[in-house]
Amino acid sequence: MSFRRLHAQQPESFEFTPENLAWAKEVIARYPKGREASAVIPLLMRAQEQNGGWVTEPMIRYIAQMLNMRPIRVLEVATFYTQFQLQPVGRKAHVWVCGTTPCRLRGAEELIKVCKRRIAEKAHTLSDDGDFSWEEVECLGACSNAPMIQIGEKVYEDLTPERFEEILDAIAAGEWPEPGPQNGRKSSEPLGGPTTLTDESLFNKGSDAEALIFGKGKGGAKKKTAAKKPAAKKAAPKKAATGKEAAKGKETAKEKAASKAGATSGKVAKLAALSEAKTPSEAEVEKAEPKKPKLHRKPPKKVDDLKLISGVGPKLEKLLNELGIYTFEQVASWGPAEIKWVDDHLKFKGRIVRDKWVEQAAALAIGGEEEYVKRFGKKPR
Ligand code: FES
Repeated sequence: MSFRRLHAQQPESFEFTPENLAWAKEVIARYPKGREASAVIPLLMRAQEQNGGWVTEPMIRYIAQMLNMRPIRVLEVATFYTQFQLQPVGRKAHVWVCGTTPCRLRGAEELIKVCKRRIAEKAHTLSDDGDFSWEEVECLGACSNAPMIQIGEKVYEDLTPERFEEILDAIAAGEWPEPGPQNGRKSSEPLGGPTTLTDESLFNKGSDAEALIFGKGKGGAKKKTAAKKPAAKKAAPKKAATGKEAAKGKETAKEKAASKAGATSGKVAKLAALSEAKTPSEAEVEKAEPKKPKLHRKPPKKVDDLKLISGVGPKLEKLLNELGIYTFEQVASWGPAEIKWVDDHLKFKGRIVRDKWVEQAAALAIGGEEEYVKRFGKKPR
């Protein structure tokens, strides 16, 4: 990595626009008191964006003051992470060219030559018209589509020098070509299209593949129904007394099958809802009208250990139980309105959102500790 220091010429001052300031305050409020410094990266990113793509010294001081940090700490972050530019960048594009081995073996050097010829001989230097700048960076994680470049959030892969020049021409003309592979292939599939997993039905909702992965769903249901059929046949002779009764018997079996299928699809729907459960933002909760969530009048047969949710201790669990909240599924079903209601009743405003109770409870409801570890990379408390 090259030596990174602030640009020699710095502007007088920096401050967020009113819109960005409101956004920054919201981001800072996501962190506990005394931990505001955790917001340093998103704030620097937003400030860099506001400032035409580069970080300045007054900006560092401004953010340090907002986060109650020493300026040197913010400077350390800005100089460590290469996503922060420390000098003015091209008005239209700052090009990152990956120069790590896989890209280099596939022609990155030719792309760098284009940068030198079309933009500026030296990296981090503006083109004559001030529209472009470039730098060589380490692997950007698209090695299977080497060589590649990245401009802002757009990634152009499978490049040739010619195609790269066309992209630069288009950007200069105010157009942004479609990012992604530039040789016609889809993502990193083989050029002629995929050669494995070509059966489209594998990707259908409720397919056997889904059942195999989740242990539930249509495929699983089929197997269960098939296994129970012989038992229904055995019972049939007993019911053959009269035609009417037989018809009634058939009807009952049908109803049973239907209700079983209904129960299975209900389970699948519940699983899908749990997989998508997400804690709303503080702003959403703030705006919502409080709504009473689903509560149990008395403890249900299966009561969950709510203390597994990070942020819930024995005292809080007792309070939740007193309200009628006993299961992970209950917590996972909360939207902004329900959270506001619980917040109001327990007087611990913000904790549910801050600790992401909904996602935690959903993971625990789906697969207990194992699913929790899979999602959060650590054991629940
Ligand atoms: S080596 Fe270039 S993206 Fe990984």
